[in-house]
Amino acid sequence: MTTPKIEIQPTATAVSPERRAQLLANPGFGHIFTDHMVVVPYHEGQGWGPGVLKAYGPIAMDPAASVLHYGQAIFEGFKAYQQQDGSIACFRPEANARRFNTSARRLAMPDLPEELFLEAAKLLITQDRAWVPTAVGESLYLRPLMIATEPALGVRPSNQYLFLLLASPAGAYFPAGVKPVTVWISEDYVRAAPGGTGFAKCAGNYAASLVAQHQAKGEGCDQVVWLDAIHREYIEEMGGMNLFFVYQEKGETVLVTPELTGSLLPGITRDSLLQLAREQGFRAEERRISVSEWRTAVAEGRMTEAFACGTAAVITPVGHVKSRQGEWLINGGETGAVTAKLREVLLAIQHGAAPDTHGWMQKIL
Ligand code: PLP
Ligand code: COI
Repeated sequence: MTTPKIEIQPTATAVSPERRAQLLANPGFGHIFTDHMVVVPYHEGQGWGPGVLKAYGPIAMDPAASVLHYGQAIFEGFKAYQQQDGSIACFRPEANARRFNTSARRLAMPDLPEELFLEAAKLLITQDRAWVPTAVGESLYLRPLMIATEPALGVRPSNQYLFLLLASPAGAYFPAGVKPVTVWISEDYVRAAPGGTGFAKCAGNYAASLVAQHQAKGEGCDQVVWLDAIHREYIEEMGGMNLFFVYQEKGETVLVTPELTGSLLPGITRDSLLQLAREQGFRAEERRISVSEWRTAVAEGRMTEAFACGTAAVITPVGHVKSRQGEWLINGGETGAVTAKLREVLLAIQHGAAPDTHGWMQKIL
């Protein structure tokens, strides 16, 4: 299949440079969008295209569009970083393109050619390059999504879809910056179950998580920690991020992250950190870890740090854990040295301040 063309139709009403500078001064996360977006339709029998890069704005949709009723919707998230040499590069976008298709298949949606995903990103970042923030830790967050648009109420896969790509300048994901978060271990709700959609980045997973996040807030916590659906014992993820636990064992630093069971999202940050941790001389393991192990290992001083990782917040320390069974502090509630080191190493690669020995950075312009 040849990659469909994306026609460029620049907006006639771009935001003024003065207003853009104001917006970029404190971008936060997910509130500001650039001047343009990419839209590519799909029709069964015809495939994808033609696409258009055009002014960012509302899209018209039939109220019977199946995404509004049965939730066939997937998304991705990756970032473009200003490099030290002034160029702009994305962090592992082809991994997101691949995971987008893993999600699409689980939701009975069509594959999107990876070249189309990457081409859309290249065109949008190039068109809106003035929106890429320059400070370390800031970036342009790219949000690809696919929704089912056929107007039909039968419960079956849609025969029409839209691929959209939005771009949003991003600063700190959590309003408090990189301060350690307090987490609530959810015993009332599960995020994902065996055979379900946990490994896919589909909208419904996030809709189903909100009530637990709300409960966590009510308990005075920033984030929810998910347990496995069967035993309600093994730790899976934190909100929309993967988790790592840091042990000091016989003079060795050991990182443990929950293994991918099918109900966890296989994070690209998680995968990158497994590699970087080993290069730092740490041991890194993927295995099951229970809540009681978490609590005991902290109490015995064997576990010295815990942190969450994901594209949006990169690395966020976990300082305080609360559950109905009790609560405990990790590293006195402060950011630990291993967490800080890994964050620094990863951000240095992402901003082009350290050599990209893995070929993770894809230069855009
Ligand atoms: N877990 C969930 C549920 C997520 O939504 C995300 C975010 O993408 C992650 C983990 C982290 O994945 P990544 O590192 O690819 O952003
Ligand atoms: C992440 O990038 O870590 C996310 O979970 C994205 C989130 C905004 C859904």
